[in-house]
Amino acid sequence: MSNPNSLPKFSSRLAFILVTAGAAVGLGNVWSFTYVAGKNGGGGFVLIYLLALALVAAPVFMAELLLGRLGKASPPTSLRSLQKQSGSRLPWAPAVWLGVVSQIVILGYYSVIAGQAMHYIFVSLTGGFSAVSAEDVAALDSSFKAGPLLPLVWSGLFCAATALIVSADVRSGLERAGKLLMPALFIMLIGLVIYAALVGDFAAATNFMFGFSDITLTPRVVMEAVGQAFFTLSVGVGGIMMYGAYMGDNVRLPRAVLWIVAMDLLVAIVAGLAVFSFVFGFDVEPAAGPGLVFLTLPIAFGQLPAGSIVACIFFTLLVFAAITSAISMIAPAVQRMEESGIARYKSAWLVVSIAFFFSFLTAMSLTDWQHVFPLAALGFDGMTWFDLMREFTNNIVLPVGAFAFALMVGWGVGRDRVRAALPMEDTIFFALWFQVVRYLVPVAIAALFVYSLGL
Ligand code: PHE
Ligand code: NA
Repeated sequence: MSNPNSLPKFSSRLAFILVTAGAAVGLGNVWSFTYVAGKNGGGGFVLIYLLALALVAAPVFMAELLLGRLGKASPPTSLRSLQKQSGSRLPWAPAVWLGVVSQIVILGYYSVIAGQAMHYIFVSLTGGFSAVSAEDVAALDSSFKAGPLLPLVWSGLFCAATALIVSADVRSGLERAGKLLMPALFIMLIGLVIYAALVGDFAAATNFMFGFSDITLTPRVVMEAVGQAFFTLSVGVGGIMMYGAYMGDNVRLPRAVLWIVAMDLLVAIVAGLAVFSFVFGFDVEPAAGPGLVFLTLPIAFGQLPAGSIVACIFFTLLVFAAITSAISMIAPAVQRMEESGIARYKSAWLVVSIAFFFSFLTAMSLTDWQHVFPLAALGFDGMTWFDLMREFTNNIVLPVGAFAFALMVGWGVGRDRVRAALPMEDTIFFALWFQVVRYLVPVAIAALFVYSLGL
């Protein structure tokens, strides 16, 4: 069993904020935010996304950190002891096991997307992005996906890097990676957006993202906006709970959460402005889908002076952001095994090996198994293993976990204990947040499920 005093702690408040922001900021902010916003027409989607972020995802994000702070162990162990203390008969720990396991599945596809970005860093370093045409870029994408080998090699390297960082103890692994990579990411991002504004169409990008004039709010747009809000803050799967447990007792949660959510939002907005400046400046299709950053941006890079350097910076940024998120995906499982006496490096390598199995399924889905649809018999025709993994984790596991955590904090732990642990004065802000977690979040998520089943 875990001894709370032996749980490692981040060394400072700043360290906690940077590392947790590192877990939140990832491919979700750059790769998926831009393609989902592009696909769903920009402004209207962004508006719903902002509402979902502020009203549902961010309040649960704070609730999940709080559960970690109260439990001071791996998520399953934390929730088991909190359940006992609360006297509840509901199965709290199983609710998070789903998330702990699902994060390993998420790493499976995440590593392949990050792997393609790693491959493109390599291509940019060998001059592969100078003066490329649209056809060259398409050819580059298909050459990456010519067979499963290349995606597997790169995603394997990505998984190995993740295991190496998590193998180390929390301060020299997780913490050092976050402190180093997050500031680097911000600097690259600022450079990128300035450059994009100079050579691209910044006005069109702003207009696309914030122009609410022609909103087309279909149910699918709403669902994808809410799903993206959950995904971007990594809520509902226990990774954030783990970081809450590593957090020192001197961290004031409300303020820290504001900082982290603001950083995540800022990265998404700035990345969006950069990407769409290129998109509109170089006549690229905004609704290109998941391939947006790979299929279309290099066309813009190819036409820029020093395009290879810009491409190299952009894809490096993507990989940095991805790796600080990837470590949060395996941290809970590794911590749980450490509680059972298994050395960190052993469990880290074991967990990424399991993730790599899902990388294999993703790599196959993008290549030889493009037409293999595992659930075709159930009516999900056209859904590959990759699509299935993404739908299942994004649209089911994250909302279910968020729903469970909101109920635990809203109804299980007790108002006074919650308030003392944040800590927060008994103000209108606390009352508001607490009511949101008690009522609004569970009702909104339940409504979302009903809504999507009706689709
Ligand atoms: N929040 C991460 C991102 O934006 C993705 C993530 C989701 C990480 C779920 C861990 C768990 O890329
Ligand atoms: Na994010």
